[in-house]
Amino acid sequence: MIFRKSTKLAAFKPLRDGKIKGKNIRLREKKLFDVHNDYAWQSDPELSRFDAVPVLDLPFAVYLLDYTAEMKKPRRNRFPIAIETFDGKHIGNCTCYDIDEKKSETQLGIMIGDPSYRDKGYGQDVVNTVIDHVFRTTSLNRIYLKTLDWNKRAQKCFTKCGFTPYGEMERDGFSFVLMEIDRERSEKGRSGNTGG
Ligand SMILES: CC(C)(COP(=O)(O)OP(=O)(O)OC[C@H]1O[C@@H](n2cnc3c(N)ncnc32)[C@H](O)[C@@H]1OP(=O)(O)O)[C@@H](O)C(=O)NCCC(=O)NCCS
Repeated sequence: MIFRKSTKLAAFKPLRDGKIKGKNIRLREKKLFDVHNDYAWQSDPELSRFDAVPVLDLPFAVYLLDYTAEMKKPRRNRFPIAIETFDGKHIGNCTCYDIDEKKSETQLGIMIGDPSYRDKGYGQDVVNTVIDHVFRTTSLNRIYLKTLDWNKRAQKCFTKCGFTPYGEMERDGFSFVLMEIDRERSEKGRSGNTGG
């Protein structure tokens, strides 16, 4: 599939040239030096539990090889993004993935890797910033996500950013809540009608 400059995916490109600012965070493209934090976070049993994935069990050298290869040849329907504070501390990541141009939608994943930055509003800041960026700079119309049914903090964070539940899903013995926001709801939110 060829993605021309005019496609929705190409509209993510400004992220590669600069940083997107939220209230207290910046979003930037991933860099090779993120590998140390990413390895630590993916090897963290607590974060794996929140994500319903197995704890990473790879030597750092192998992880680094895969990481470098992915950076050299990024997938076109997936945009991993680093979250940093205004003083440049990398505190987590979020990813727009499964970007589907035909359906005009993307799935969103987020984690604040550094636990000392959780529960302080950074998650809402990131999600609001991503929503705003996606709907302002691409023609995608829907952002959706899934979160474990017991992860009430994540659900509260997403609800406060305007996401609403639209279903449930069982996978590998885990129960997920499915949530979504569309362009129209986001625009209403910007004019003050969204929030929980
Ligand atoms: C989920 C996550 C991204 C949210 O980001 P955050 O910065 O911690 O969240 P925020 O502070 O912006 O918002 C969380 C809200 O939930 C509330 N909250 C915290 N714990 C809660 C709980 N157990 N039940 C209900 N609400 C809770 C907070 O008070 C806050 O609401 P408020 O703004 O009204 O006070 C972050 O906590 C995280 O990365 N956690 C670990 C990984 C994870 O769960 N990823 C999500 C996978 S879908």
